Amino acid sequence: MGKLLLLNGPNLNRLGKREPEIYGHETLADIEHSLKQFLEPYDVELVAKQSNYEGELIDWLQEAEGEFQGIIFNPGAYTHTSIAIRDAISSITVPVIEVHISNVHKRESFRHVSMLAPVCEGQIVGLGIKGYQLAATYFVS
Ligand code: DQA
Repeated sequence: MGKLLLLNGPNLNRLGKREPEIYGHETLADIEHSLKQFLEPYDVELVAKQSNYEGELIDWLQEAEGEFQGIIFNPGAYTHTSIAIRDAISSITVPVIEVHISNVHKRESFRHVSMLAPVCEGQIVGLGIKGYQLAATYFVS
């Protein structure tokens, strides 16, 4: 059995309540549940974690080494600011896919830059919560 890590960063615990016109009505629990179900036939276990704290996300990235085959990561606003998270991703060999629910390129200019994309395997942007499943598909195919 393989293992994937789903990481969500700050404010993503408020999905469903937070700006639903941008992020939709599904909660993070809904997303985690449907992704676990999607992965079941592939015999892949999903471990899902969310934190509003940069250091905690960094700890989890470091601990993923040797434990997970891939990481699906929505880093929230840390995408645009965090050199520390970028360094954590660079320090591990586990491939990371960066996912954004909204199309950050259609939004404020400060969201157009990702500190993390250059050290990620790839990036999925603007396809809503389907982006998480598309990232999972990449890892199981
Ligand atoms: C986001 C986009 C970020 O710019 C924002 O700070 C978020 C969510 C997304 O999923 O679209 O918190 O990562």
